[in-house]
Amino acid sequence: MKTTKEKVLEYLKVNNRAYVSGQEIADSLYMTRASVWKAIKALQNEGYEIDGVSNRGYRLIISADSLNKSAIDKIVSANGIELETYLFEETESTNDRAKELAEAGKRSLVVISDYQSKGRGRRGRTFYSPKGAGLYMSFLMDTGIEAAKAAKLTAMAAVAVCRAIDRILEEISSNRGNTADSEVFGNPKIKWVNDIYLGDKKICGILTEGFSSLEEGNASNVIVGIGINIYQPKDGFPEEIKKTAGVLLPDGYSENDLRNRLCAYVILELIGLHNSNNTSFIEEYRKRSMLIGNYVRINQFNENQNNKYAKVLGIDDECRLLVEYDDKKIEYLSSGEVSVVKY
Ligand code: BTN
Repeated sequence: MKTTKEKVLEYLKVNNRAYVSGQEIADSLYMTRASVWKAIKALQNEGYEIDGVSNRGYRLIISADSLNKSAIDKIVSANGIELETYLFEETESTNDRAKELAEAGKRSLVVISDYQSKGRGRRGRTFYSPKGAGLYMSFLMDTGIEAAKAAKLTAMAAVAVCRAIDRILEEISSNRGNTADSEVFGNPKIKWVNDIYLGDKKICGILTEGFSSLEEGNASNVIVGIGINIYQPKDGFPEEIKKTAGVLLPDGYSENDLRNRLCAYVILELIGLHNSNNTSFIEEYRKRSMLIGNYVRINQFNENQNNKYAKVLGIDDECRLLVEYDDKKIEYLSSGEVSVVKY
C-alpha cells in the first residue's frame, strides 16, 4: 500500500515536464489539497527539488541522475547482501581499479565509476564510457578462475544484467502509470557470449578477466567488468560504433536515482546468482539468447581465414555455442564472436 507521499511523488514524476496544480493532484489521487501540500513539504524536506509557483502549481526538478555510494549501498544491504563498493567519479578502467584492490589483498568487492578514460572492451577494443550516461562496474569475484570458468561467469553476469534491466524498466513503467510498458522498451537479449542487445543495438558489454594476484602467489582472481549504456551520450557515440551501439532509455526518461537503483540491482542479481551455486541460470541464458535458431557469421580475426557461416542450434551447459555448418558438420565454439546474418 503506497503512502500519500509516495503517490504524490509518483504523480510528479509522471508529469515532470509540466507544472501540475495542487487541485489537479488532489482530484487525481482522491485526496485533499491539504494532504497534497503536506506530502510536498515532506518530500522537499527529504531533498526532492520541487518547484512551487503560484497559479501554476508544482513541478519535480529531475536533477542529473547522479551516482551515489550510499544510495547504492542502502539498496544492497536492505536486500541482505554485504559487498564492499567503491565509487569513483572517474577512473581509467574499473577493471584495473579492481585488480589493484585485489593486489592489495581485497577479496570480493565492486568498483563503480561515472566515467572511464580508458574503458576496455574485448579483443583490445576500447569501451566508450562517457560521463553521466552509463554505468561502468567491475566485480572482483571471490573465486579462482578455474572454479569460475570465465565463460560461465560471463553468462551469469549477462543474466544478472538482463534481470536488473527488466526490473528497472518495470519500475519506470509503473512510475509513469504504465504508459511506457515493455512494448516501448523491448526486452534485453543476450548475444553469446558477452553482449546485451535491446532491439538491434548493443547496450551492454561484459569483459571477464582472470589474473594471478601477487599477494596470493599462484592464486587466481577473476574480474567481471560490465558496461551499460543508459542515456544517449551528449556528443553521440563515436563514428566507429554509431551504427551498432544503443542505449537503454530514450530521451526524456531520466529519473532520480535510476543509475543507483540499476547498479544495486545488478549487484543483487549477480551476487545472488553467484552465492546460490546453482547452474539453472544457464537455462535462462538460453531463453534470453538472440542467436539460437538464427544463421550467423563466425567472425575470423586472422586475415588469412575466411568468415564461416552456420546455424546456431543451441548453447550447452558449459556455455559453448553449438553450430551446424552448411555441410551439416557440427561444432561447439567456446569463444569467438558471431554476427546474426539477415536474409
Ligand atoms: C565488450 O563489449 O567488448 C566488453 C566491454 C566491457 C566494458 C566494461 S565497463 C566496466 C569495465 N571496465 C572496463 O574497462 N571494461 C569493463
